[in-house]
Amino acid sequence: MAKGLRKSLTSYGDDEFSLFLRKAFIKAMGYSDDALNRPIVGIANTYSDFNPCHGNVLALIDAVKRGVMLAGGMPMAFPTISIHESFAYPTSMYLRNMMAMDTEEMIRAQPMDAVVLIGGCDKTLPAQMMAAASADIPAIVIPTGPMVVGHHKGEVLGACTDCRRLWGQFRGGQIDEAGIEAVNGRLAPSVGTCMVMGTASTMACIAEALGLTLSMAASIPAVHAERIRLAEATGKRAAEMAIAGGPLPSEILTQEAFRNAITVLQATGGSTNGVIHLTAIANRTDFPLKLAEFDEIGRHVPVLVDLKPTGDHYMEHFHHAGGMPKLLEQLGALIDGTAITVSGQPLSASIAAAEDVPGQDAIRARANPIKPEGSIAVLFGSLAPGGAVIKHGAATPALLTHTGRAVVFESIEDMAARGDHPDLDVEPDDILVLKNAGPKGAPGMPEAGYLPIPKKLARSGVKDMVRLSDARMSGTAFGTIVLHVTPESAAGGPLALVQNGDMIRLDVPARRIDLLVEEAELARRRQRLNEAEKQDRPERGYARLFHDSVLQADEGCDFDFLRQKK
Ligand code: FES
Repeated sequence: MAKGLRKSLTSYGDDEFSLFLRKAFIKAMGYSDDALNRPIVGIANTYSDFNPCHGNVLALIDAVKRGVMLAGGMPMAFPTISIHESFAYPTSMYLRNMMAMDTEEMIRAQPMDAVVLIGGCDKTLPAQMMAAASADIPAIVIPTGPMVVGHHKGEVLGACTDCRRLWGQFRGGQIDEAGIEAVNGRLAPSVGTCMVMGTASTMACIAEALGLTLSMAASIPAVHAERIRLAEATGKRAAEMAIAGGPLPSEILTQEAFRNAITVLQATGGSTNGVIHLTAIANRTDFPLKLAEFDEIGRHVPVLVDLKPTGDHYMEHFHHAGGMPKLLEQLGALIDGTAITVSGQPLSASIAAAEDVPGQDAIRARANPIKPEGSIAVLFGSLAPGGAVIKHGAATPALLTHTGRAVVFESIEDMAARGDHPDLDVEPDDILVLKNAGPKGAPGMPEAGYLPIPKKLARSGVKDMVRLSDARMSGTAFGTIVLHVTPESAAGGPLALVQNGDMIRLDVPARRIDLLVEEAELARRRQRLNEAEKQDRPERGYARLFHDSVLQADEGCDFDFLRQKK
């Protein structure tokens, strides 16, 4: 098989000429023949002025390059899309598949024998792992790493669990304008990803559990020198993989690896977004995942990591407590240590090197869990025949079995317009319902599932209510919130039929979510719905592609034509 510069030759009908031309052009950059004859390690550069979570990417690239060269390879960085949560309209999830396609195609189009994928912010690692699964050349992931924590008036703060908590206090009138402005400057005190167990941290832990990173890659803070050394080691290992031709993602992303990743998702109290992303990655391999597997594994996996939003600590504390190797060690037989990693060694080698940190309380022992079962449950029922998820580890226990009256918002705009209106007919026992916020509906399934408590209830001290939608929720949020209702309302799911005043029953112990309305009445409503105007189909561009091709949440919201491995 062709290697180095001879790979992926541009098509001119004469391969030797293609190589001649390629070398002529690349020599314009000052490379020698010695350099150009080495195995090539591509490095995906996701630096962007719009992406503070990737603010250390250029330093990491320098270190990766050093490592590649120390091992005799030729590093070549190339740009891809970079997505930040707060700088992605309409929502970052809308762009994840575009980044996955961009990354996959640039890996294929350019000559590289291995690739280092540097990502971090919520959608970037998932997109890169989806790309790696499909491109299937030796690939190694290095997360940008979590931010260090912030401090405010003696309190430890972190993005973005505390962003939401303190914003809620501001809405409830417990914090004034000056107070919320001061907090705004302290929630994100360094470059790097959100330092709670949000989606970014969850996906970094999942990347390590899948075996796609070197050991400890998930947790080293973004600004620590240790992360730079990890990047150098990653570069070295990538060059070795380029020379050896493996291991390939298809050799690493096995059934055992995916079960390990689900176990870690549950044990970390990880983000519900992890369910969607992991499904999307798996569905590009020979080992697709079903939603029910997350629940089945979750029933036997305790939450051991004491991080916000389900616990008390932040990622740097998880790191100093021993990081992923320590967690995997504590999970014991729940982890399959035979799964191969990018190191070429089984995961058990990383576990064997786990550090013992006396007195640490961020990673619990199995005998002393935060919660006896995993943090995410999967619900089915008449309201969600294709499934829904709830992070019951971050919910109010008393609300996990609850029947209430639906207060319905037809769209995100409707919720924004009426949610805080003083005349809104809403009581603390009601269930807030949001429609048309799913993959097609919004579009892009925004993180709108954390429906704000209506102001008049928040001001009277209501902190949580059952909330339900086809949207996603930030991994940094908390509350009794049913998400990813499938099929979504814009695709004609039962959610589309819910009306104000309907009774809905949530029963998390029984894993049920049901709409308590007579079948005959639902049939009448469906008839009316079918007669109503269909949702507009975008006329052109990516919006059209997205609308026509995006799969539902239970299939990872990938595009239907990207599921197969090759
Ligand atoms: Fe990038 Fe939270 S906004 S990880």
